[in-house]
Amino acid sequence: MAAEPVNLNEFQELARLALPKMYYDFYAGGAEDEHTLKENVEAFHRITFRPRILVDVSRIDLSTTILDYKISAPIIIAPTALHKLANPEGEVATARAAASCNTIMVLSFTSSSSIEEVAASSNAVRFYQLYVFKKRDITATLVQRAERNGFKALVLTADTPRLGRREADIKNKMITPPLKNLEGLLSTKVSSDTGSNFEADANETMDASLSWKDLEWLRSITNLPILIKGILTREDAIKAVEVGVAGIIVSNHGARQLDYSPATISALEEVVHAVKGRVPILMDGGVRRGTDVFKALALGAQAVLIGRPVVYGLAAKGEYGVRRVIEMLKDEFELTMALTGCPSVKHITRKHVRTEQERI
Ligand code: FNR
Repeated sequence: MAAEPVNLNEFQELARLALPKMYYDFYAGGAEDEHTLKENVEAFHRITFRPRILVDVSRIDLSTTILDYKISAPIIIAPTALHKLANPEGEVATARAAASCNTIMVLSFTSSSSIEEVAASSNAVRFYQLYVFKKRDITATLVQRAERNGFKALVLTADTPRLGRREADIKNKMITPPLKNLEGLLSTKVSSDTGSNFEADANETMDASLSWKDLEWLRSITNLPILIKGILTREDAIKAVEVGVAGIIVSNHGARQLDYSPATISALEEVVHAVKGRVPILMDGGVRRGTDVFKALALGAQAVLIGRPVVYGLAAKGEYGVRRVIEMLKDEFELTMALTGCPSVKHITRKHVRTEQERI
């Protein structure tokens, strides 16, 4: 294989070659039959373009603004666990790549580098992803640390009352390394110091009673804007707007939670119609091409997040690899804008794509 990949999918193969099987499977895997895992990607393939011609596309502006932060393109780094399994520099390398690409990084609650290390390593705009533990104090402590360290928003992941059944991890007896931010905060059951099977232990730790009313609690302990991640239906989108979230992330957790959830690109429009522009909507799941970014924007997302491609880039080539992944996606997105006749993201409309239902 050529040393320099030419697209995101080639990074996946490089990551597979670079990583121990247990870690590659941890990143690549999905829940149960992995039906949704495939669908997340394939549902994009079923959307085609209605390109417009003879538009002046001699200059293309990819930039956009998310919660007042201007970024170079509507492509954000999704929160994914344990970057040190991919590269010894872990989330620090990812944050540096985010800064050099002028985009936002969402740091995972289950990161392997600490909030403080990541904050000190670059001036990237950072959001902090949250899980809520039964011991609310732990979550509250991490919210305060994120706030103190200049994180700009919280992303509450709400699709994980329990962890999905990821069979590759079960077979591999996947052991996670220490969870840096949780050092000293957890009981011995979920060891932050020696490493443990977080997947199994998480079900002990995660607060499965979390419900809409707890958004009030979260708001009482922070002034940061809160985005909610994991929405797939109009009902929940409306609830999220009612409780006052600053944004919605349409996501099925990279198909790692409930198999046979819809592909996120298929669920996006339902949410967009329900929200009616009241809060920004982002989406993630299966974005591998610039054309995918375009399709998500045409269907109403303001930006996409990418999960696995980032860890594959990190595994294959460290910080440089993450940068290349983002740059390649940006380049493809820019080309798509040129070829569909869209000189800026504002020009991308619903009329530029045709979904399967609309085919004649
Ligand atoms: C995730 N995801 C995730 N989400 C979250 O809110 N907190 C987390 O700690 C993690 N961890 C995690 C680890 C790994 C290895 C993966 C692949 C995913 C889900 C992630 O934020 C995002 O929703 C998906 O990764 C998006 O799908 P793609 O881009 O991976 O297809």
